[in-house]
Parts: sequence; C-alpha cells; structure tokens
Amino acid sequence: MTAKRHSRRRLLRWVGGWLGLAGMTAPFAIAAQGALPRIRRGREDPQPVEVPLADVPPGEMLQVEWRGKPIFVRHRTAAEIARERAVPVASLRDPETDQARTRRPEWVVVEGICTHGGCIPNGPLGDFGGWYCLCHGSQFDTAGRVRAGPARENLKIPPHEFVSELVLRVGP
Ligand code: FES
Repeated sequence: MTAKRHSRRRLLRWVGGWLGLAGMTAPFAIAAQGALPRIRRGREDPQPVEVPLADVPPGEMLQVEWRGKPIFVRHRTAAEIARERAVPVASLRDPETDQARTRRPEWVVVEGICTHGGCIPNGPLGDFGGWYCLCHGSQFDTAGRVRAGPARENLKIPPHEFVSELVLRVGP
C-alpha cells in the first residue's frame, strides 16, 4: 500500500468516526433543545407592536412578540413596587434602580431572554417573584434585575412608550 492510499484510508476512517458520533448525539441535542425554550433568531418584523393593557390585572403578566423576541409586560402590585424600590441598589449584581427601569412604576417591560444563555425565563416564579430561568437557575426580580444564578446582567428593556393610559407600544 502506498503512503497516499494509506493516509486516504485513515482520513476516511476519521471522517466516518465523526459522522457516527454526530449521528449518535444528534437525538440528545435535539431533545435537550426541545425541552428548554430558547429564542429563535431570524423573524424580525421591524414594526412596533401595540399592546392593550386593560385586561392585565395587577400581579399578572402578558407576553407579546417583537422582532422575533418574547417581551414580558408585567403589571405589578403596589407591594411589588414598594419591595423593589426598597432593595439597596449597591447590593445588586447589575446595579440599577427600579425607577431607572420603569416608565410607570406599575408596568415593567422587559425582553424575555435570559442574559446568561438566551433561554426564555418563566414567571411569575422564583425567590424574587419575577422570573426564573430553568436552563441554569438564574432568577430575576419583578423589575427584571438579576438576583441569583449565573446571569450577570439584568433583563434588557426594549424601546417602548405608553401611547395612552392603557395602550403600550413596543418598538421605536
Ligand atoms: S440561560 Fe438562563 S440561566 Fe443559563
């Protein structure tokens, strides 16, 4: 056998080994992705989204989609607002006041994408009453500030404004 044929056979064996390994692990990778919701990129409708707020009582949340991203719109209770405003900002991992994160104290508008690895957190859930990310356990308070787990940053705030008392517009 020539050196060239020998190296070609080794190359084919190597490629075959990797293909086999990929075939064995693919079902597990697909299952894991299906079990934990992650954000899908690509559907980016540039239009702003108008969100009616009349049917969202205090303590409840609405989820809408803007530019392919889940947006959480949380109607906070007076107790939740008071609790978040009493948190010493210096104790936070990503220090931001509640006031800086809200245009109106009773409404919190955040992107529903965990800042650790891009999963969609669940809420209201967790030790801080906000959102809990099942992927690796990051927790966010009702202002979307990270309070526990591996995430280092608060949930992002999308551009938004209140066009009337009970209508929110998400988007520039
Ligand atoms: S992706 Fe949310 S904690 Fe890791």
